[in-house]
Amino acid sequence: MSYADIATTGLRCLPPETAHGAALALLGLGRPPAPPPPDPALAVTLWGQRFPTPLGLAAGFDKDARCPDAAARLGLGFGEAGTVTPRPQPGNPRPRLFRLRRERALINRMGFNSAGLEVVAARLEGWRRANGASQRPLGINIGVNKESADPARDYAAGLARVAPLADYVAVNVSSPNTPGLRAWQAGDALHRLLAALAEAHARLDGAPPILLKLAPEIDDEALAALLKAIEGAPVAGLILTNTTTARPAGLVSRQRAEEGGLSGPPLAPSALEVLRRAYALSGGRLPLIGVGGIDSAEAAYARIRAGASLVQLYTALVYRGPRLVGEITQGLARLLAADGFASVADSVGADHRAPTAGGQDSSISRAETRDAAISSPIARAAASGSGACVIGRPTTSAVAPARAASAGVATRA
Ligand SMILES: Cc1cc2nc3c(=O)[nH]c(=O)nc-3n(C[C@H](O)[C@H](O)[C@H](O)COP(=O)(O)O)c2cc1C
Repeated sequence: MSYADIATTGLRCLPPETAHGAALALLGLGRPPAPPPPDPALAVTLWGQRFPTPLGLAAGFDKDARCPDAAARLGLGFGEAGTVTPRPQPGNPRPRLFRLRRERALINRMGFNSAGLEVVAARLEGWRRANGASQRPLGINIGVNKESADPARDYAAGLARVAPLADYVAVNVSSPNTPGLRAWQAGDALHRLLAALAEAHARLDGAPPILLKLAPEIDDEALAALLKAIEGAPVAGLILTNTTTARPAGLVSRQRAEEGGLSGPPLAPSALEVLRRAYALSGGRLPLIGVGGIDSAEAAYARIRAGASLVQLYTALVYRGPRLVGEITQGLARLLAADGFASVADSVGADHRAPTAGGQDSSISRAETRDAAISSPIARAAASGSGACVIGRPTTSAVAPARAASAGVATRA
């Protein structure tokens, strides 16, 4: 048993939030035993950036960017700091994080405890100065304060502040613990948010890709409407999904009755399904990050085959510790090779393609294309091969501060 395994076991004896603080502090102090260097087949190039593996750290683990190197230290392919709110706020009263041990799941109602934009940005500025380019792409996830008078303006201000420091910016409109937040995923609110982001984006010199992070409780109609709304907007991808307010049948742990967002394996089926539908509805043209209940190489690979270009995890690390990272990356390389894929990119969305004699095909399966094309102009463009659909904006450098200012909006990287 390695010291990292012992630490993981020991941390699980502490109250969950104390254990989380201790884990972050330990990670800041030293590096757990590194997994072997990742197989080159695992490298993903997206938005002009190189991700050494597609497996990243989900938001919420390092809300205040205390350890921006967390992903590199854990052997992950990328990190995501935040959610950071414009002004500091304490979040909900404790206890607000609960272990569902039998399900290896968590329920949290943290409520965006955040040191605030200025503290986090200053910390990241210092880190960037000291380290130059990130060893791994680092996303920054932004939110709004509970008492925000104008959330669209606050999101835009957050984007402007973190853009020079981020390799991508995740706009969190899906935390279940800030009342009304999820309303920004749809309708007028979404349009106002996109307009505010577009305005802020236009003023930025070399803006990083912007991603929206969505809830698993989004039906096809809402998903199709969102995909239509983001056409032409500076949105380069989606993160699917945040935690769920649902309590799937079969949960046995007493803590299942706690209020908040459920993460871990019980979330996996709905997170996978939303991802699959988003890939089909967008004709596979919009980069997707899959997250929710990923706890094995098989689960990560299933998410990639369903349409994720990258995947993230959080809850499984709490239960399994850093050793899991090597297990997943090594397993992923084996699974890709077993299916005859030379790279992760080749396998993204493979489930949507009709198998051929060689076992691979490059077109979205006919049934799904037909289904998707009914409601999605994005899919229509993809299916027609016109390439006319404009989504997102790839950057031209992997280094956020040195990011070259690429003009205009470009098609998917
Ligand atoms: C304690 C905790 C705090 C979280 N905080 C955030 C957050 O601040 N912002 C965010 O976008 N997601 C947050 N999440 C959601 C995760 O990023 C992720 O989407 C979700 O947990 C599903 O992945 P998992 O099953 O691998 O944990 C949090 C999750 C947990 C467990």
